[in-house]
Order: sequence, then structure tokens, then C-alpha cells
Amino acid sequence: MSETLKISVIGTGYLGATHAACMSKLGYTVVGIDSDSAKISALQKGQLPFYEPGLAELLVEQLATGRLTFTTSFDMAKDADIHFLCVGTPQKAGSNAADLTYVNGAFDQLLPHLKVGSLVAGKSTVPVGTADLLAAKLDAQAPHSDLAWNPEFLREGFAIEDTLEPNRLVVGVRKPESEKLLAELYAPLITAGVPWISSDLSTAELVKVAANSFLATKISFINAMAEICEAAGGDVTVLAKAIGYDPRIGSRFLQAGIGFGGGCLPKDIRAFMARAEEIGANQAVEFLREIDAINLRARTRMVDVVSSELSQGLKGARIAVLGAAFKPDSDDVRDSPALDIAASLLAKGASVVVHDPKAIDNARLRFPNLEFATDIKSALTEADITLHLTEWKVYRELDPVEIKKWVKSAKIIDGRNALDSDKYLLAGWRFRALGRNL
Ligand code: UDX
Repeated sequence: MSETLKISVIGTGYLGATHAACMSKLGYTVVGIDSDSAKISALQKGQLPFYEPGLAELLVEQLATGRLTFTTSFDMAKDADIHFLCVGTPQKAGSNAADLTYVNGAFDQLLPHLKVGSLVAGKSTVPVGTADLLAAKLDAQAPHSDLAWNPEFLREGFAIEDTLEPNRLVVGVRKPESEKLLAELYAPLITAGVPWISSDLSTAELVKVAANSFLATKISFINAMAEICEAAGGDVTVLAKAIGYDPRIGSRFLQAGIGFGGGCLPKDIRAFMARAEEIGANQAVEFLREIDAINLRARTRMVDVVSSELSQGLKGARIAVLGAAFKPDSDDVRDSPALDIAASLLAKGASVVVHDPKAIDNARLRFPNLEFATDIKSALTEADITLHLTEWKVYRELDPVEIKKWVKSAKIIDGRNALDSDKYLLAGWRFRALGRNL
């Protein structure tokens, strides 16, 4: 009976906390383990250390069932049938490569607690070959257990949906019994029709970075087209719509603007390049260097457009920035294009005030010198120019006629191509957007 399966989830960050709560929702007994005692005591009390729509409610609901618990002690993992490794793999300081300290550390701490017949299933995004190294260690120190890789494709803002109704399940396995155990765990999803793809360990690791590289490429492609449209006098939003009707291309992930950020896409493409070089295949993913460059150039282009719109120059200009999170419905500011642009403008002498519905606290920790506003009106008051940098719904719903009364100068630049330009133009705003000639 699947309901009797016991799960441990090592690392209770974004991925782990979501996975733990969702596995409990499926009826399993789950223990979430993390070395960060502050994080664990918050989770025990039903407090989520980050914002994700619906997850706080799910956490409280599942804690109440008694199936879901959190601890700092690896000893509590000893009864689990499957251990999910969900720790972070950030970019190494001063290098493109992934930092595997947390993966290796968590794995080493887990090894002595593995019971006979248990399975360690890696979920963290790792350089290809990592699972093989871990498997060798496991075979030497805990041969009564096995290792599999089960990459996660969850998007922030859709974490629960992407975990419980994913568009595919990928499992890299070495033994049929390990695939069987994972299939038993995910039976409710498989029954609901989620495609099941089983592979070797390396392919499973690669699926994740290949998917993120493709997504990053799609975004940088449309941002490259935005540069062309600016130079040639075209409109990238119309171009994206037109090419997107071709089902071979597809319309999603063709939103031109200030580009991708967050804790995954930027560091994953860099780690992929670093690993490809180590395995002698660097030429194959050399194009990712250009993808990264186009992405970072979108940020500088935005700063240049702002500067060109201010006849008095950036020094002393009052700039209102709408959005700090790397994308809407998230409080995550890791490698956020919005904050990066705000910080560049500040460094160039502008007075920058930032608003975000959820990410102000995290943004302040990262850039304490920026000014932050808790409501949109105070952010816009007396602004010489307004920048729309994260496409929260609340910004799209602003009334251009009303907010024009708050600003000093009715100039807005849409860094996400998400605002209704006609409405702004009609209300008498000077409206600019990356990749459009308005
Ligand atoms: C991504 C992958 O989508 C997910 O499958 C993987 O598991 C983790 O990495 P996430 O980082 O949550 O998820 O964000 P995503 O929705 O992919 O957006 C990434 C960035 O790209 C954001 O900064 C977003 O604003 C930007 N973006 C996205 C664009 O600039 N244009 C687009 O068309 C789409």
C-alpha cells in the first residue's frame, strides 16, 4: 500500500518544502530535514520562510494531519523508504560551476541512516556525473540501499501545481526495483496520466539542465529580436505573437523584456557550460555564453533607455521602480533583473525608490542602499520616470489616468512588455518598451 511509504526530504528550501508538503498531501508520512534550525522551527509552526501561492495553507493543512514533521536531526530519516535530496546547488563564487558542498554534505550525513532496501532520490539540479559519483560512494558505504535521480521542474509561483500535476516525471535509475518504488510513490500522478520517463542517471541529470537551457535560449532569442526591432524599427511583441502561432515554435516564453533571473536559469546555464568544459564537450554548449550575454545586455539596454529619456541625466533623477522579485507571484530576488537595474541606476547617481508586493524584505537585505516603498502611490509620487520591471497583476491593473496625478513626469518604460501601451498613450504618458518603437 503506497500510503504506508515513509519519505524523508533533505533540504527544506523552495523545492524541499514544496515536495515535503505535496508528498504528505498524497498521504505519505514525511519528515523534512534541514541544518538551518530557524527554518525548521518556522516550518514546524506552519510558517513558510518564503512566499509561494497556496503553499503556506497546504503546509498548515498537512502539519495538522500529523503525517508531516520537520527536524534538524538526520537520525529521524532512518525509517524512510525514499530520501529526496533537495538541497541547493548555487553558483560557486568566482566561477561558473555549481557548488556541490550542500549535496555532498547532505549525502554524507544521510549515509549512516539508510535502512535496508531504501532509496536515495536526488532532486537537486546537479552537473551531469554527480549522481554516478554519489552512487559509487553509496555502493561502498551503504550497499543495501540504491540511488536514483528524479529531477524537479517546478516553477516558482506554480510550485504545488508543478509538483502534483507535473507535465512529466523523469526518473534516472540503476535497478528495476528502484523504478518500481518510485512508480509506487507517484502512482496517483501516473494514474492521472502524467507521462513517465525512465532513463539512466546521467540522462535524468541532463534533462533538467537541457530543459532550462532551452527555456533560457527561447527568452534570449526573443530579446535578441527585440534588439533587432529597436534597430530596424519593428515591434517585438507583434513579431513574437506572429511566430508563436507556428506550433513548432509556440507562443510561451517569448515575452521580450529585461530577461531571465532567479535561482535557476542563470546559474544552470553557467554550470552546464562549466561541466561541458570538464567533460570535453564545451563547443556543444558554447552558444549558452551568448544566451547569457544577451540576457545580461537586456539589463544594460534598460538602463540606457532610462538615461536617454531623462534630459537632465540620471544624476539626481527620481526613479520609481515597480517590481523587485525576479518574476511575479514570488518574493525571490536572486539574480533579479529588476533589482539589478535599480541598483545600477542608483550607482549612476539616481534616486531610486522600489515597490514590490512581496519581495521588499528580501530586496532590502540584498540592496540596503535602495529606497523602498510599501505602497505604489508613495513609490510614484514625484517620480521623473517610472519603470515597470516585474509584471505583477497589480501593476497591470493600475489606471494610467489616476497614477498620472502622482508622478512629476508622465514617462513610463515597460521592461516586461506587459502593460497596455494604448491606455497609457491615450492618458498622455510618454510610453517606451524594450523592442518596440512607440
Ligand atoms: C525555471 C523553470 O521554468 C523551471 O522549470 C525550473 O524547474 C526552474 O527554473 P523559475 O525560475 O521559477 O523556473 O522561473 P520561470 O518561470 O522559468 O522564469 C524565469 C525567468 O525568465 C523570470 O525572470 C521571468 O521573468 C523570465 N521570463 C520568462 C522572461 O523574461 N520571458 C518569458 O517569456 C518567460
